[in-house]
Formats: sequence, C-alpha cells, structure tokens
Amino acid sequence: MTAPLIDPFARAITYLRVSVTDRCDFRCVYCMSEHMQFLPKADLLTLEELDRLCSAFVEMGVEKLRITGGEPLVRRGIMTFFRAMSRHLASGALKELTLTTNGSQLAKHAAELADCGVRRVNVSLDTLDADKFARITRWGRLPQVLDGIAAATAAGLTVKINVVALKGVNEDELFGLTRWCADEGHDLTFIEVMPMGDLGEEDRLDQYWPLSDLRARLAERYTLTDLADRTGGPARYVRLAETGQRIGFITPLTHNFCESCNRVRLTCTGELYMCLGQEDRADLRAPLRASPEDAPLRSAIRAAITRKPKGHDFDYSRQTVHGQMSRHMSHTGG
Ligand code: GTP
Ligand code: 5AD
Ligand code: SF4
Repeated sequence: MTAPLIDPFARAITYLRVSVTDRCDFRCVYCMSEHMQFLPKADLLTLEELDRLCSAFVEMGVEKLRITGGEPLVRRGIMTFFRAMSRHLASGALKELTLTTNGSQLAKHAAELADCGVRRVNVSLDTLDADKFARITRWGRLPQVLDGIAAATAAGLTVKINVVALKGVNEDELFGLTRWCADEGHDLTFIEVMPMGDLGEEDRLDQYWPLSDLRARLAERYTLTDLADRTGGPARYVRLAETGQRIGFITPLTHNFCESCNRVRLTCTGELYMCLGQEDRADLRAPLRASPEDAPLRSAIRAAITRKPKGHDFDYSRQTVHGQMSRHMSHTGG
C-alpha cells in the first residue's frame, strides 16, 4: 500500500468513478444529443488496461469503485471486468464495488453482478409513465427497465433510483415515484439537472427544478427528518416518517457539496477528470502504456490529484447558466 491520495484542500480521494464506455442504448435528453458521435472503439482502454488503472488507484487508497458509462453494461466483456475487480473486495482493499446503470441490461446481468460482490446498484429512472419515459430517454422502453430492476432485487441487490428533477416533466410524479419506491423498498435520490452537453441555455433553465422546492413540496405531505447518513457520494438524506423510507438529494446547484468531495473520474480513454464541473483533466493512458511498471502511472495520478480544483462553478442564478460544460455527461459518467 502506498501513501493515500490527498488533494490540495486536504480531501482524501477514496472514490473512483470509472466510465467504461461512452456508448449507451438510450439518448436521455439531458445527457446526450440524439445523434451522438461516439469514440472509435480503438480509442478505448482495453479491459486489462482498465484493470491495471483501477488497481493502481485501489493501491493508493481508493475504497469505492463505481462503474459508469454511457451505459456500463453495454460494454462487451464487462462482466469479466467486474469479476476481476471483485478480487479487491475479497482482499479487503475495496469496500464497495458498484455501478450506475440505466437498467436496460440488468435482467441479464443482475445475478452475476451479485455474485461478483456488488451489493447496490443505482438505476436512473425519471418517470413511471411509459410514454414520458420514451420521450425523456428517446430510445428507452420502460418495461425493460422495470424488469431489470426486478431482476436486481431478486438477485439480492439493493436498488437506488436516481431521478433527475425536471420541471414540467416529472414534477407531477413526485408523490407517485416516492410511493412506488417505498412500496418496492428502493432508496430514492433526486438530482438537480446540471448544465452539461449541448442543450440550449433556455431549455436547461426551463427544466431546472430546484430541490429546495421539491423538498418543500414533499414536506407538505410527509414529515422529513434530516439524516447524518453518508454513502460516500454527494447526496444528503432525509427520512420520511410516514413511509420509513430514505430519500437523497443531490444539489449541485442549490447547495454546493464540493467541500467534501472525495472522488475523481476516469474516462474510457484513460483521462482523469478531477472535477465533474471543470475541463481540466490528466492523461493516464500515456504513462499506462509507456511502461509495464506502475511507477510512472502512480506519479501521473499523484500529479493529477495535486490539480484537483476546489469545486465546480455551476450556477443558474440571475436567470443565466454559468459553469456550462460542453462535455456530455456520458463522457464522465455523471
Ligand atoms: P451513492 O454511492 O449511492 O451515494 O452514489 P453517488 O450519488 O455517488 O452516485 P450516482 O452515480 O448515483 O450519482 C448520481 C449523480 O449525482 C451523478 O450521476 C451526478 O449527476 C451527480 N454527482 C455525483 N457526484 C458528483 C459530483 O462530484 N459533482 C456533481 N456536480 N455531481 C455529482
Ligand atoms: N444533470 C443531472 N444529472 C444527469 N444525469 C445525466 N445527465 C445529467 C444532467 N445533465 C444523471 C443520470 C444518471 C446519472 C449517471 O447522471 O440520470 O442517474
Ligand atoms: Fe444513457 Fe444514462 Fe445518458 Fe440516459 S443518462 S443517455 S441512460 S448514459
């Protein structure tokens, strides 16, 4: 074990999000354009290279590994990678191996994921209305995702539903989604829509539904108690007294949580983004390929962490969008 990764603001980096592909079988409106240009397959790191990179991070103190995309389960051979990463769970170096998925391929893979030591999955689901689901995801079909969620539950996985709060789109489903998650036993997290990708400024502002608002509406029907729970992510949690369920809020806009940031993001081409909301990145592919020894890779990782910024600049106040990223969310996996 080498020295842990500490950034210039004394934050320990213990959470690595790894985007294993930029491809997806959906085209969610807030994430991708309909005609996305994907990276040529030849540019991707191989699964062996991803293994070496993740393993280097684990040796440097990363305890939580979240596999993302695009849609991680559309990457060919991805279960081989999960199987390989499970050795770090077995050794005790890694505390959590998990993924964020759109659920479309979960029915196929849930049992094997559980067998690899995955305990929780985060599934994106913004609506329970099939037509609306088709409109938001463009290419997605709701029943397939619901089947995937059921398969995950049957395999013993805890499911967290991620809902991007969209004004005028799923506002009317606040109580429906909440009730459904309570009945099904799923955790639920709401996320404020972030200015990523090439959606026009007007659209994004139109869709922005501050979670302070959403929370106030929940409080009209339920008794909310703030919880001190932390899952290692940016969500802050409340408990609803009436249903007993836990609800998370991810509020990059109304409440900046950057001061406690513990994570960095690796893309499928080996770029390390030190912040979701900044352009700066470090190339890890070159040091990875330059030598079969990990020393150059380790120094490149350390050098990158010294450049981790204090936080993102997302801001919709005064009715304009600040901190907009031209990069799509699928590039870094959220
Ligand atoms: P848990 O382990 O369940 O706490 O997961 P998580 O919230 O870390 O992961 P998930 O993939 O479910 O994240 C949900 C979404 O929160 C992401 O896709 C992003 O949209 C947002 N998010 C996560 N981390 C950050 C961050 O560091 N900055 C910003 N601005 N948003 C983030
Ligand atoms: N703003 C907020 N969340 C987003 N996601 C994708 N794009 C955005 C955005 N612009 C969410 C997805 C998924 C996670 C990976 O990121 O819904 O839950
Ligand atoms: Fe695919 Fe997730 Fe982006 Fe939707 S939000 S297009 S499911 S990567």
